Amino acid sequence: MTSLSAPVPPVPADVPLGSVAWLRASVARFSNGPDHVRRRALAVDLLASVDADSLQRNAFTRTRRIVAELDVVEVMARIARPVPVGVLAEALGLPDVSADVAAVAAAYHPHVSPGAAAEAALTRLIAVCGGPTELAAARIGLLVQACDATAGLVGNRLFASLTGKPAGQPVLATRRRVDGSDVTVSLAGTPFGAGPRACPGSRHALALAAGVLEALRGFRLTETEISWLSAPNLRMPAVLRVTRGETAGGFC
Ligand code: HEM
Repeated sequence: MTSLSAPVPPVPADVPLGSVAWLRASVARFSNGPDHVRRRALAVDLLASVDADSLQRNAFTRTRRIVAELDVVEVMARIARPVPVGVLAEALGLPDVSADVAAVAAAYHPHVSPGAAAEAALTRLIAVCGGPTELAAARIGLLVQACDATAGLVGNRLFASLTGKPAGQPVLATRRRVDGSDVTVSLAGTPFGAGPRACPGSRHALALAAGVLEALRGFRLTETEISWLSAPNLRMPAVLRVTRGETAGGFC
């Protein structure tokens, strides 16, 4: 808890308006002090307007619609990424921007150099949010924060329910500035973080995941070997193919 309460490594503030660097410089996630307090309050207020039960219902309905058309479904790409973000976007009064959110999410963290595709996706997201304001950054920030983490929550819980193995937490660690150095802080045992920066979307994420998982009840894995995402900070299946029927024998 002590390290999680430390400041986050600061990001550059003198950056082009509307760029991915601007998004980082404008959201709670990479801010400290009064900026963090103000921007976090924007995110918390936006989430307060979103009913978790409706998220669960809408995630269930969207997932059911997708699986109705397919014999075999690759859950990570077809459901775990687009459904939670699409449902949350709708609840925040936005169109289905899940593809653009995924492109920005891949370039969100400060160690990544955003490419042209991420910058173009962010330009479109800012346009649907009415221009490059701190409130627009907060809305986009919610969707970007939700993207990989909720996909991981869905993927890990589905894997666990289909195999009987434990569900790992999707976000493994975070970064803080301690005594002038940037350090990695483990999130083991606190999947949604802790302290003044604890995830404000945990209830929403759990509702979204519950809706998706309910819609996938009765499905089984098509393969016994699962490949895991190769990312230092995230633990989730890279690919998870399911079909209707009993649980695959190899996992029982
Ligand atoms: C609806 C889905 C989600 C939304 C809207 C959301 C939103 C956010 C936001 C806005 C922050 C920044 C808070 C701040 O800096 O004050 C945050 C932080 C965090 N979120 Fe979420 N999140 C979601 C899902 C998840 C999931 C599924 C996990 C993992 C199980 C997760 C884990 C975290 C963690 C660990 C942090 C803190 C990072 C740190 O302390 O450095 N989030 N989230």
